[in-house]
Amino acid sequence: MNTSSPKVSQKVRTAIFPVAGLGTRFLPATKATPKELLPVLDKPLLQFAMDEARDAGIERMIFVSHPSKSAIERYVHHDEELCDALRSKGKHGIADRLGKDAIDPVAEQAHFVMQPTPLGLGHAVLCAVDEVLPGPVAVILPDDLIVGQKGCLREMIEAYETGVAGHMVATMEVSRDEVSAYGVLDPDGDVEGQCMTARGMVEKPEADAAPSLQAVVGRYILDASIFDDLRQQDPGLGGEIQLTDAIAKGIERVGLCGFRFSGQRFDCGSKAGMLRATLAFAGRHDEFRSILEDHASLPLAAE
Ligand code: G1P
Repeated sequence: MNTSSPKVSQKVRTAIFPVAGLGTRFLPATKATPKELLPVLDKPLLQFAMDEARDAGIERMIFVSHPSKSAIERYVHHDEELCDALRSKGKHGIADRLGKDAIDPVAEQAHFVMQPTPLGLGHAVLCAVDEVLPGPVAVILPDDLIVGQKGCLREMIEAYETGVAGHMVATMEVSRDEVSAYGVLDPDGDVEGQCMTARGMVEKPEADAAPSLQAVVGRYILDASIFDDLRQQDPGLGGEIQLTDAIAKGIERVGLCGFRFSGQRFDCGSKAGMLRATLAFAGRHDEFRSILEDHASLPLAAE
């Protein structure tokens, strides 16, 4: 274990959702619909992320959005008129579900800040600085969908609150030819339970220069000092302010742990990942499972 890491347990009260990206990989679908609102069956990716934050006991959700993506605000907030219209038609089930999914204005806090220019993930996180509650913050990238027995953020927070390190990132092993699409850890060889401590982290290294195959996926718990490091962070890969670089800068001071989460991750930022997630969820429902079985035996229709 990194002896310089503080062994003080601090509560994680805030989650930041960077949702300003323009979703170019999904155009034209994302021309008018934010990519975070694309559904797996009937549930938008953002809803999975919000549910995961709730399950982890998060008090305040901060959405770092883009002025062209007002649909996100409309989605997140409760829509009384729609629920009334549904109820007047006797559709109580779906009205109840919408009520539960939306932010509860009494029990929950949702804040919106804008990131008008795409200056990088680190910049997006920094945009939230004036809205965060004291203590460490969680960051959830909604296009990394993680499903499991236990919510990924909840299991990370449980480990984080034992004081293992100041920065914690979700990690999974990937193949050498995938590694350049991720932030990658340089583990120091120390593993305790699901936590692997690291002495470095690099953003999207070339395959043959990667320090390991331990890739970072979109869940972070960051010591509050991340904001000072982000303020001083020079642009890195692609001319963007990289969250990875600011995390790496704080390792000496607060320590870094890669958390090997137990759930299954779907890369819903890609069409293939979205398809995999949809098939996996469809396979869980009887009504859809039979369609999958039928489809497997059907010849492909010509375009
Ligand atoms: C971002 C991060 C990267 C991380 C990845 C996980 O990259 O910069 O370090 O591994 O998310 O999905 P992006 O996929 O936004 O290019």
